[in-house]
Amino acid sequence: MAERDYYFYNPVEGHGLPHDPFTSIIGPRPIGWISCRDEDGVLNLAPYSFFNGLNYYPHILGFASTSWKDSIAIIERTREFVWNLVTMELADAMNVSASGVPREVDEFKLAGLTPAPCRSVAVPRVGESRVSMECKVCDIIQLSDADGKKANAWLVLGQVVGVHIDKALLKDGIYQTADAKPILRAGRLCDYAVITQETMFEMYRPPDDRH
Ligand SMILES: Cc1cc2nc3c(=O)[nH]c(=O)nc-3n(C[C@H](O)[C@H](O)[C@H](O)COP(=O)(O)O)c2cc1C
Repeated sequence: MAERDYYFYNPVEGHGLPHDPFTSIIGPRPIGWISCRDEDGVLNLAPYSFFNGLNYYPHILGFASTSWKDSIAIIERTREFVWNLVTMELADAMNVSASGVPREVDEFKLAGLTPAPCRSVAVPRVGESRVSMECKVCDIIQLSDADGKKANAWLVLGQVVGVHIDKALLKDGIYQTADAKPILRAGRLCDYAVITQETMFEMYRPPDDRH
């Protein structure tokens, strides 16, 4: 084992560094670009990088909000949302959609994006996005710390009830991750990563029929 000198801290007491390394270390993280629609038809769109796919069948994905934001307030009531893939050409639009604007501002319009219809939810997907997943809410959980003290953070879990894939990303029926050039959040104030063929490699895992 290599001899290393480890920096150690307990986050509750502060990291003692110029910038909190937490999201740089757990990165790059996929971006949950979440669209939703309130009861008055106002559209909402925002990126969430505390996001991931969490289960195969049923397909469940989740994202976490670090305070009670518009997306959570709307989704709590409407029980529906759509996840949209952020690719390189949509990076600027995704960033604009993170603006802290009043609830009545349509973030599709703000970011110059086209709402496209879904099949199973009343929420539009981002028409320019090459993959979208229609979701119905399974759970909204307020996070707690290890002592059970409630945190100002909410985890939204949704079951995927419809998947839209640009057919150009399917080669012989196999989805081509690198062809989409998805971008991921890589920590610090402004670091991102992009997936390309050069940054991918193959490794087969040991046999295990439990998945
Ligand atoms: C790439 C990126 C990732 C983000 N990830 C999160 C996140 O995981 N959780 C969160 O609460 N805010 C996150 N934000 C900030 C929200 O997008 C921002 O607060 C937004 O205005 C929330 O919109 P809403 O109020 O319409 O829900 C992120 C912003 C960017 C640009």
